[in-house]
Amino acid sequence: MLVATDKVPVGGGVVVTDIVVAMTQPTQGQFMAFDAHCTHQGTPLGQPNSQGVMTCPLHGSQFDDEGKNLVGPNGGAAGTTANLTEIPVKVQGKNVVRA
Ligand code: FES
Repeated sequence: MLVATDKVPVGGGVVVTDIVVAMTQPTQGQFMAFDAHCTHQGTPLGQPNSQGVMTCPLHGSQFDDEGKNLVGPNGGAAGTTANLTEIPVKVQGKNVVRA
C-alpha cells in the first residue's frame, strides 16, 4: 500500500515523505503517483499546496498534480526541468497501491 485514498485530497495531493512519493487526485477518483524527487537535482519536494502544486525547497521548481513542470529552477520557464516520473498505481479497496 502506498496511501489510503482518504489521505489524498481531490484537486491536490500529499507527499508520502518516508518513501518520497507524491500521491495526487487531480479529479475525484483519479489517483496518480510520482517520484517526488525534484527532476533538477533530486531534492525531495515540499507538500502540495491547495492547488496541488509542489515546490522544490532548493531552487524553487514547481510541479502540478499531474507531474508537469510549471516553473523551472530559479524561476525558469515551464519545462526547463523534466516532468516528474509517474509511478503506475491503482485503487484497491480503500488504498492506493502500485499497479
Ligand atoms: S533541486 Fe529542485 S529546483 Fe533544483
